[in-house]
Amino acid sequence: MSDLKFHLQPGGQLSGKIRVPGDKSISHRSIMLGSLAEGVTEVSGFLQGEDSLATLNAFRQMGVRIEGPEEGRVTIYGVGMAGLQLPDGPLDLGNSGTSMRLLSGLLAGQTFDVTLTGDASLSGRPMRRVTDPLALMGAQIETEAGGMAPLVISGGASLKGIDYPMPMASAQVKSSLLLAGLYAQGETCVTEPAPTRDHTERMLRGFGVAVTRRGHQVCLTGGGKLQATAVDVPADISSAAFFLVGASIAEGSDLTLQHVGINPTRTGVINILREMGAHIELLNERSSGGEPVADLRVRAAPLHGIEIPLEQVPLAIDEFPALFVAAACAEGETVLRGAEELRVKESDRIQVMADGLIALGVDAQPTQDGIVIQGGGIGGGTVTSHGDHRIAMSFAMAALRASGPIEILDCENVNTSFPGFSGLSKQVGLNIEELK
Ligand code: S3P
Repeated sequence: MSDLKFHLQPGGQLSGKIRVPGDKSISHRSIMLGSLAEGVTEVSGFLQGEDSLATLNAFRQMGVRIEGPEEGRVTIYGVGMAGLQLPDGPLDLGNSGTSMRLLSGLLAGQTFDVTLTGDASLSGRPMRRVTDPLALMGAQIETEAGGMAPLVISGGASLKGIDYPMPMASAQVKSSLLLAGLYAQGETCVTEPAPTRDHTERMLRGFGVAVTRRGHQVCLTGGGKLQATAVDVPADISSAAFFLVGASIAEGSDLTLQHVGINPTRTGVINILREMGAHIELLNERSSGGEPVADLRVRAAPLHGIEIPLEQVPLAIDEFPALFVAAACAEGETVLRGAEELRVKESDRIQVMADGLIALGVDAQPTQDGIVIQGGGIGGGTVTSHGDHRIAMSFAMAALRASGPIEILDCENVNTSFPGFSGLSKQVGLNIEELK
């Protein structure tokens, strides 16, 4: 457990204009595709958080020359599809599930052996969801008991394309197979049970790879090349989500979040908050490097509880901790179902959020695949994030409506996705202090 704590005084409102850090999913992919491309890829808006830096360092360890990041700018000197080199040791991917799952696919088709490791949280997360279908493609990957990391990938496997009906709605699994598919003979297809974020497909097209989609199925053919291109990473809607919730629940708030990615596979949080009565406007909608972006203006509004529509669940999968805080401040009951995936994130987000909400006096009932929250007041108290960045930031926003101070334990991992969170939140009106 880390020593960093957040201390919050109750009340306040959020106002002003800010740009939250770059999108984590897109930042990871920019390093991966830029490294495999021919030519020089210039990235702007890159997330300088620990997760995307873990990906960047992994590619440096495999011989890719990468300059930066400096104020979000990264220059990647692509080595081509066959140019990665044997690293000098295991690749340590820290807390980052996206790095481990996407790299499993990308590295399954290399000529060298490589070991992927991570922290205690990542070493307890399920990896068979990628290693099983990758084995069907011919990959040789050994896991620890229970399908956990470290993963030992043997080089020299010859991969063949598969047509994979994906059992869960996971962009990480889909992306892992598509990246392996770049090295496979023939066509690799993944059919998703529900739409998931499509940044891999969009960015592959930007690098010149033909990716086709028919309904819920996405396919590509191996053996091609990637051509370097510029990547502009928009601000992360998952980081904006804390402020969308905070400004919605804190009376008098009027906050604008600039240049936020609004890819329709990511906007569940806006759809759900609007259905609860939130006042969110999309201003200056535009396209930036193959991804739609907008400025989001959010003003405080009275929220009411809802049954969260099932089809919104994969589109808001990372935003539920923040949405649970909105539900606690809404009038009436909010019910979430069909979200068992939340139990295998950086923490068991159903249990950890329920425990924290209950500690703050909220009536929250966890269920196997969701939660039932009765809106009303939030009290003061102490909660633990269990080393989960999104839990820590969600409870920080709860202070805006709490009746007493809130102390949040184990907050170091906020740096995985949102370095500078407490400073930026303070700037727009959150009463937050960091304590060691
Ligand atoms: C991600 C996909 C999602 C998400 C994660 C990032 C990605 O995970 O929760 O934060 O970048 O592909 P799943 O694929 O496990 O749903």
